[in-house]
Amino acid sequence: MIINTSHFLKSASSMTGLPQDGLPEFAFIGRSNVGKSSLLNMVLGRSGLVKTSKKPGKTILINYFLVNENFFFVDLPGYGFAHRSKTSRNMWQRVIEQYLVERKELTDIFLLIDSRHGVMENDGMMIDFLDHYNIPFTPIFTKTDKLNKNAISALKQKNPECFFTSATNSLGREELLDYIESLIT
Ligand code: GTP
Ligand code: MG
Repeated sequence: MIINTSHFLKSASSMTGLPQDGLPEFAFIGRSNVGKSSLLNMVLGRSGLVKTSKKPGKTILINYFLVNENFFFVDLPGYGFAHRSKTSRNMWQRVIEQYLVERKELTDIFLLIDSRHGVMENDGMMIDFLDHYNIPFTPIFTKTDKLNKNAISALKQKNPECFFTSATNSLGREELLDYIESLIT
């Protein structure tokens, strides 16, 4: 699939603020700092469209990006951000869990995992949550540029169903776009 257009549509802080036009959407979830926003920029070929940060916790809203006037990419706030207040963590949980369970337009969820660290405790909790509600998701290993070739091969062999990406060298872009295209056509 070729990306012709992409633009930021809106940010929402609750279900009532979400778009109503019924277009399919793909959500990107994962720990703070795992590289969600960077991956979106890489896939869209737009370096500054989605805000990224060295400091975790940058994204605090449900951010909608309209792609090819045809589907949405949804950048969600990361989990596991320890410095957030308890109120903010509870709020995160309520809004995001409701979104993941109830949103009809949600076509697939990409669960991002840092290839250097693998599945960590809070990733495991998210996976349990999704499994509990029978919500399908697709794992993506990020930041593969931080690994050497052998380590990437080993990871691929262990996780044949997953995508492997790097926002730095654009690894995995075509595969991911082809996969998304197969789900919307
Ligand atoms: P939150 O919005 O806080 O949840 O973070 P996020 O998951 O959106 O992470 P973000 O894309 O902001 O990236 C966090 C940091 O990791 C930034 O310093 C990025 O430059 C870096 N980063 C992201 N992807 C990659 C990658 O593929 N390779 C390398 N080397 N660094 C990356
Ligand atoms: Mg982000």
